[in-house]
Formats: sequence, structure tokens, C-alpha cells
Amino acid sequence: MLSWDDYHEETIATEKPEQTKVAPEVIDAAIKQVDAEAELAPPTKTHSSTAADYSAAERERNTVLEPAQNYVNSNISTDTDTSATASAETHQATEASSTDQQNQSALERARHSLDKLDPAPGLEELEMGAQRVQVDDKRMINCRADLNQLVPFKYDWAWQKYLDGCANHWMPQEVNMTADVALWKNPEGLSDDERLIVMRSLGYFSTADSLVANNLVLAIYRHITCPEARQYLLRQAFEEAIHTHAYQYCIESLGMDEGEVFNMYREVPSVAKKAAWSISHTSGIGDPNFATGTTEADQELLRNLIGFYVVTEGIFFYCGFTQILSMGRRNKMTGVAEQFQYILRDESMHLNFGIDVINQIKLENPHLWSEDFKEETTQMILEGMELEIAYARDTMPRGVLGMNAGIMEEYLHFIANRRLAQLGLKEAFPGAQNPFPWMSEIMDLRKEKNFFETRVIEYQTGGALSWE
Ligand SMILES: [Fe+2]
Ligand SMILES: [Fe+2]
Repeated sequence: MLSWDDYHEETIATEKPEQTKVAPEVIDAAIKQVDAEAELAPPTKTHSSTAADYSAAERERNTVLEPAQNYVNSNISTDTDTSATASAETHQATEASSTDQQNQSALERARHSLDKLDPAPGLEELEMGAQRVQVDDKRMINCRADLNQLVPFKYDWAWQKYLDGCANHWMPQEVNMTADVALWKNPEGLSDDERLIVMRSLGYFSTADSLVANNLVLAIYRHITCPEARQYLLRQAFEEAIHTHAYQYCIESLGMDEGEVFNMYREVPSVAKKAAWSISHTSGIGDPNFATGTTEADQELLRNLIGFYVVTEGIFFYCGFTQILSMGRRNKMTGVAEQFQYILRDESMHLNFGIDVINQIKLENPHLWSEDFKEETTQMILEGMELEIAYARDTMPRGVLGMNAGIMEEYLHFIANRRLAQLGLKEAFPGAQNPFPWMSEIMDLRKEKNFFETRVIEYQTGGALSWE
């Protein structure tokens, strides 16, 4: 393939007119030959020849000389071109010289600027010659050590989650949606209640994952000061993009009204309340002027982490996931269910990562985990649970898919207990049981490689994904 420079040169070469090569010796020889022939030729006429005879001789001479003169004319013309070309070359040389001077002064300015560069690498304002990062320097928040140095690892669990996330990579287009499209477009394919569940699920999740992704990159990332945890956050951000892609892929495949689905988080109360609750916990630390380092600010960051990891990803996703996965277990909408299955596996890791980060911050900053803050955290989890129960009632006005709102409420009590216990808080519903033990199994890839009998995807480290 030609580079731009090659192409440019080739174009110029192609467009340049061919130069006529002048051969002076040929012209001289032609003239001499004509003259010699004139001398050697027997005089046809005497000096007393007529003007007509002279004209005839002259015409003969001119006829012979004409090609040579054309050559000369051509030569003169070419000389003119050459002169113009030389002038253009001189102009180009002047321009080139000027460009060289400009480049030279730009280079001088660049070097001058570099002379003034402070070698402290940017945001963290490190001192040159400061000690290399030691494991003990690392902190989950408010760390002053160099954040550009991934190693030495302190939080191996964060790095391991990053590796596991990469090993579980998948893309929405890998899932066959053919059966779903046929079922969705068949008027007899699904009941109205089942259709409501599919619509609500895609409506909530299609925007919820964008909220989570925005919170990650615009709020959380800046304040987590541990490179291996940041590495996982970057991986998680990409996974959230894949999830949004997956929902869009389902919506498009099924030919749904995109405007209706994507605006559900603003127009359907049970969906809108969940989205509003999540957003209300982003605004604080999303402010560009927000900075950690005080008890109040650090607790605000904790509120965000609990609001997103524990409540949004750890409670708000569970009713919709259970409904869609139950549909898949009944061999309905198996493509959508398979997409949700992969997403759920990712989400269970996001949840576990968030719990580990929160517990690590508690460990390193015990003063943040005050009795008041524990109480506030418990309330946040219960608020999330109540919103999810309201969503269950809205999406299941009657029994459907072997479940109903009452059974989902019991499940959400069980989930709320788990979230409280994972943060070291007292369970709110002692003795609550899990009515859907198969949900745990779906997240364990060793047991459920071919859950919906669609297609087996071997994951390298599926066993690393644990839940509950
Ligand atoms: Fe997600
Ligand atoms: Fe997530």
C-alpha cells in the first residue's frame, strides 16, 4: 500500500508533461544535409532562371527542412517550459526553505517548552527522587503514593477479579436470537403478563447500566486510589457498556418500540423510582469540586459505593433477572435469557468487588463506620429492597412463570439479609429463606454450562465466580 507521501509523489510524477529531448547535432546535420544536397544537385536552371523556378527550389528546401525546424521550435518551446519549471523550482526551494525555518523554530519552541517541564508526573504531584512505592503505602482511598504503578500488589483480590472478568469476556452478537424473534412476533407466543415482564426488564436495564457506567467513570474512579482496583473499574466499565449493548441488541432484534423502552425509566413509576434513587446517590461525588479526605466526604463516597454496588447492582437487578431467567428455564425467550445469564454473572462479580472495596475502606478508616453510619447503611439497603418489592408488584399483578409478587418479596428479604451480612450488619429478616435456589446455580458456571440448552460457552475461570 502506498503511503500518503508515496501517493503524492506518484501523482505528481504522473501529471508531469513529458519533456522533449532536443538533439542539436541532429538539427545541424539535417541543415548541412539539405545544403549539401542543394550544392551537389545538377543545376536545373541558370542564374537566368525565373522567379518561379527560385520559388520552387525554395519550397523544396523548406519541405526538407520543415521537420528540423519543428524540432527547433519544439526545442525553443521546451526551453520556455524548462525556464518556467526552473522558476517554479526556485519558488518551491524558497518555500521549502521557509518551511524548514518554521519547522526549526517550532522544534526550538518544543525544546524550550520541554526544558521548562516539571518532571513530577501530573496529577499526583510526586517529588522526583521520592521513595519507590511500597505495599504499605497503598490505600483504597486518600493514597498519596504513585497511582501509575500497578505493582507491587497489595489488593490481590482486586487484580484477580480483573483477570476473572477478562476471562469471562463475551459479546451480545454471540447469542442466537432467532427463536426469541419468532416467539415475540407470534401473537400466541407469550401471555400479556410475560410480555410485560420482558418489556419492563429491558426498559429498566437498558438505562440502569448506563447509570452505573456513568457513576463509575465520572464519580467513583477518581476517588479510588489503588491501581489494581482501578484496573478492575476499567474492566467493569467496559462490561457495563457490553450490558447496555446486549439490551439494545435484544430491543432491536425483537423490533420493540425503542422510544417506549428507553424512556421507561422516566415514565413508568416503579422503574423511574429505582433510577431516581440511584442517581440521587451519584450527585454528591460526581461534583468536580468534590474531594475525599474528610470524614464527611469519605462517608459520602461510601454512600455512593453502597448505593451503586450494594443496592443498584445487588438488589435492583434481582427481580428482573429472576423473572427473565425463569422464562428461560421454561424454554421461552431463551436468547434474551442467555444474555441475562451472562450479565448476571458479570453483575455478581461487580457486587462482590464493591463489597470488598467497601469493607477495605472500613478496615483502613474505622472512624467512618460509625453507629450512625451503620444505621444509615441499613436504611439504604431496606429502601432499595422496598423499591424492588414495588417493582415486583408492578410487573407481576398476577402469578406468572411459577412465581408471584409475594414469593419475590420473600426472596428480596433473603437478598437484603445477604447484603447486610456482607457489610457486617445485622440481618433485618431473620430466618428468611431463598425460594429460588436455582438463581445461585445459574451464577456457578461449573454447574450450569448449558443451562438453557442453547449453546455451551467454556469460560476459563468460571469457577472463580461465586455468589452468596
Ligand atoms: Fe451491568
Ligand atoms: Fe454492573
